[in-house]
Amino acid sequence: MEKDIDKIFFSEEDIKKIIDDLSIVINKDYKDKNPIIIGLLNGCIPFMSDLVKKLKFKLTLSYIKVSSYEGMKSGFVKLLDDIPNVNNKDVILIDDICDTGKTLLHLTNLIYQNNAKSVKTIVLLDKKDSRVVDFNPDYYGSYVTNEFVVGYGLDYNEEYRNLPYIGILKEEIYKK
Ligand code: IMP
Ligand code: MG
Repeated sequence: MEKDIDKIFFSEEDIKKIIDDLSIVINKDYKDKNPIIIGLLNGCIPFMSDLVKKLKFKLTLSYIKVSSYEGMKSGFVKLLDDIPNVNNKDVILIDDICDTGKTLLHLTNLIYQNNAKSVKTIVLLDKKDSRVVDFNPDYYGSYVTNEFVVGYGLDYNEEYRNLPYIGILKEEIYKK
């Protein structure tokens, strides 16, 4: 698997530092709250797991399976699960990356329609330049340029999510 990687963008240490910094801000903002944190499967898994261990306030965890990508093209947002009970709750949505913004905008709207008290979004990476809708995550770990990245939750056709770092694949892998 590692031989398929062309360049590393974020090393394990980079990611650890990003999560430490993010957790300081989130711990401050949610100090007196008791939110439900909803991860978007499957991409959220490594990031959410590492981030929640750094959070000091009481929270509950939940997940929604969504599918918005096939290969490298962003398509329609498909919800493969029901929305958990968010009635009158502070909700935090977690995803690996914000790209076009469609997924998180759609889910934020849906969760408000389910009577959430508040909805905030956290992503590890923000591909700000690829946005096609008017949406920005409330918290992001790092900005990333408009290149297709894999690792630490991010996949190419469901693979590479288990890499402990984030990088780009060699061109020949996409051509297969
Ligand atoms: P959006 O709705 O376009 O913002 O799409 C967000 C979803 O697209 C994320 O949850 C990722 O699963 C996927 N995605 C966007 N960019 C990348 C990437 O560079 N590598 C892997 N997955 C990506
Ligand atoms: Mg994803």
